Amino acid sequence: MSSIARRDFGSFHCSNVEELLNLTDDQFIPLPIPFSLYDYTKDGKIPFGRLMSEKYFLLDNKYVYLNHGAFGCVLRPALECSHLFQYYIEKQPLRFYDRELFLRLVDVIRKMAKLLGCATAKNLILVENVTFAWNSVVTSLNIDDKSHIFITNTMYGAYKKFIKKICLNTGAQLYEFSIDFPINDINKVIDKMKIALKSHQFTYAFFDHISSNSPFILPINDLCHYCKQLNITCIIDGAHALGSIDLRFDYEDDYLPDIYLINCHKWFCAPKGVGLLYIKSNTKLTIRPCVQSHGISSGMHSEFFWTGLKDYSSFLALTECLRFWSYYGMQMIIDRNRQLAKEASDLLVQMWNTSKLTSDDISGPMRCIKLPISDDNNGGFKYDDAEIIQNQLYHDFNIEVPIKSIDGNLYVRISAHLYNYIEQYKQLGHAIVEIARNK
Ligand SMILES: Cc1ncc(COP(=O)(O)O)c(C=O)c1O
Repeated sequence: MSSIARRDFGSFHCSNVEELLNLTDDQFIPLPIPFSLYDYTKDGKIPFGRLMSEKYFLLDNKYVYLNHGAFGCVLRPALECSHLFQYYIEKQPLRFYDRELFLRLVDVIRKMAKLLGCATAKNLILVENVTFAWNSVVTSLNIDDKSHIFITNTMYGAYKKFIKKICLNTGAQLYEFSIDFPINDINKVIDKMKIALKSHQFTYAFFDHISSNSPFILPINDLCHYCKQLNITCIIDGAHALGSIDLRFDYEDDYLPDIYLINCHKWFCAPKGVGLLYIKSNTKLTIRPCVQSHGISSGMHSEFFWTGLKDYSSFLALTECLRFWSYYGMQMIIDRNRQLAKEASDLLVQMWNTSKLTSDDISGPMRCIKLPISDDNNGGFKYDDAEIIQNQLYHDFNIEVPIKSIDGNLYVRISAHLYNYIEQYKQLGHAIVEIARNK
């Protein structure tokens, strides 16, 4: 046990969460993991692609799986680690929940904070997913009829619905900035966005770091800096960032977001049900979980640590993910996946004689490529048309990949992760050629 063992949290026999987060590395004594973790060295370095898929993922090789962006895909050792924790917990539930849980969670947070270059472990809060964090943030912001809110048309659909509802209920003013596609020069988009941000006295601005339907990387540090000068609080949806781009929080204060939402179960390949909420140091915002329990009034982290009895095994399995990413090298994986996505999109553009939705300089491991299918109305494709082709790919070709209708045109959104390889995109290319031929 750590040197500090004060109880301030219901009847839990646990140390104070806020104090555990404040300890220096020398003072913090983590609990040992109660089972052996995976020994990667015994496998050597597995080549990325097919072999990686067989060894470290559970994917059914009947399918060509090109949709990591949707629900991620777990690393087998991380899933096993979460299962081992589940067994361990049930051997003595009180020992775990009452005496060990907080120490173990703080350990995970401290490790993740180091990975991300946070000023302090207190910048991070463990959450089930970005949606839980988003709900918590938005319901904590005190949005009222004096609030002016800036969003973009690329905002995640569920959040756009929610923010519209909040604005309707409170009388807050909502401004939706429209990003036009295709994007060939991001600087032009940012210049226009900055003009729009200056046009009102906005209170809050919401940006996607990487939008989901039309994936491209926004230069969020530049935007945060700009918003800071205008006294606008910046909230970033980073559901797709961790594990897909070099996500860091060791920038100068003025360039950091006020709030940043992270999923670990997408590109970081953690078991489902874990994300992180980043809150900038010295923030004036008070963010509370949208579900509250014993931690009330014991500090922000305590409030988030316990939101009712639940399965924390995915949170704890982050330790295993960290071991995997550090064994293979985070930057190496990110660069490889980005390069594969570039090669795959170049290949499809060439096979189909079409174009990309966004330029390579702002694209990560997800890309949209226009399909070689035109309609009689020229540019009048709808969601239903996209769905038909997506289903054809699934049923007739065993290819799992989303088709999107963007501004009336059809695009495929490919993802590239460690288990993917270029032949899979060739298969997609041929399948679409065949579908187009029969249209
Ligand atoms: C941009 C974006 N934000 C938020 C989410 C929601 O993530 P979750 O369901 O894990 O909360 C998604 C999910 O795909 C997403 O693409």
